[in-house]
Amino acid sequence: MNAPAPPADTLRTALAGLLDGLPPKTAAQAVERLIANYRGTTPTHAPILRDRSDVVAYAAYRMPATFEAVRGALEAFADAVPEWTPASHVDVGGGTGAATWAVNATWPGARPVTVLDWAEPALALGREIAATNPELTPAEWQRARIGAALTLESTDLVTVSYVLGELTAADRAWVVSAAAVAAQAVVIIEPGTPDGYARVIEARDRLVGAGFHVAAPCPHSAACPIVPGEDWCHFSARVSRSSLHRQVKGGSLAYEDEKFSYVAATRLPADPAASRVVRRPQIRKGQVLLDLCGPDESLHRETVTKRHGPLYRAARDADWGDAWPPPAEED
Ligand SMILES: C[S@@+](CC[C@H](N)C(=O)[O-])C[C@H]1O[C@@H](n2cnc3c(N)ncnc32)[C@H](O)[C@@H]1O
Repeated sequence: MNAPAPPADTLRTALAGLLDGLPPKTAAQAVERLIANYRGTTPTHAPILRDRSDVVAYAAYRMPATFEAVRGALEAFADAVPEWTPASHVDVGGGTGAATWAVNATWPGARPVTVLDWAEPALALGREIAATNPELTPAEWQRARIGAALTLESTDLVTVSYVLGELTAADRAWVVSAAAVAAQAVVIIEPGTPDGYARVIEARDRLVGAGFHVAAPCPHSAACPIVPGEDWCHFSARVSRSSLHRQVKGGSLAYEDEKFSYVAATRLPADPAASRVVRRPQIRKGQVLLDLCGPDESLHRETVTKRHGPLYRAARDADWGDAWPPPAEED
């Protein structure tokens, strides 16, 4: 018997299947409408994802990227809480369910999952896609509007992925506080832009104020050393391009890099990275330059040379977003 496909492959196949039978031009037009809507002023007062062609476009065009970004954040979080597996998950503003797939990819197995969103067509498509993954079929897809009237059920993990930017300031504050009341762990992911980072930092402050500590990406829960307006903390996830991407964006690149900002905070005991690589490492002849966020609330550059032996080899393998030094080299 063949081993079951990993969730990422199952998701890719399910998303490719969505476009079957849809004329390529129709799919490309739906994506273009969606991109235009997302360029408009947010927050919106009604869902942007209004009908099936909107959500098919969202799922086929954006979901592979949001899935990889959430997976990147969750893997960094899982490294900081290696003994822990969430027994339940609530995905707020979950749309077509990218974060539920990412949770399943990080911690395989079935668990109670609730996906909340105000866009019924997104929930319906999310349910349909999840039906291709037996571990996700028990998920509940519930219509809910984020706002003061919404209470979150108690759960191990809350994810809020690519949602804060669509909310008013009051709803942003509310949803983060509600997540802190409901969950043991809260993971928030936003686009890797200065605005996305600003929303992540606001959420981080709120979670720390509620008694959480930061497990990733930061090595500490004190103030972020980045000066607002001068830089922003973000990471990058590689995403294979679908034929729809190539059609809409042109070019023949087989992949693109999704930039994202995130915070993973928890009430659980956690062991954050000693330092985090916060830019793409620069490999020079005989040396690697690593830009690091360190435990002393500062950013600094470390030069690792051949003289450092195994650490130099590790530095050559280090990636933007990795913990540094790699766990085995820490002692
Ligand atoms: C960019 S999509 C992200 C979807 C999914 N979390 C992901 O990572 O792919 C934003 C989602 O937030 C939902 N949303 C926005 N404002 C909302 C609100 N006030 N209440 C409930 N859902 C909302 C949208 O319907 C949409 O599904």
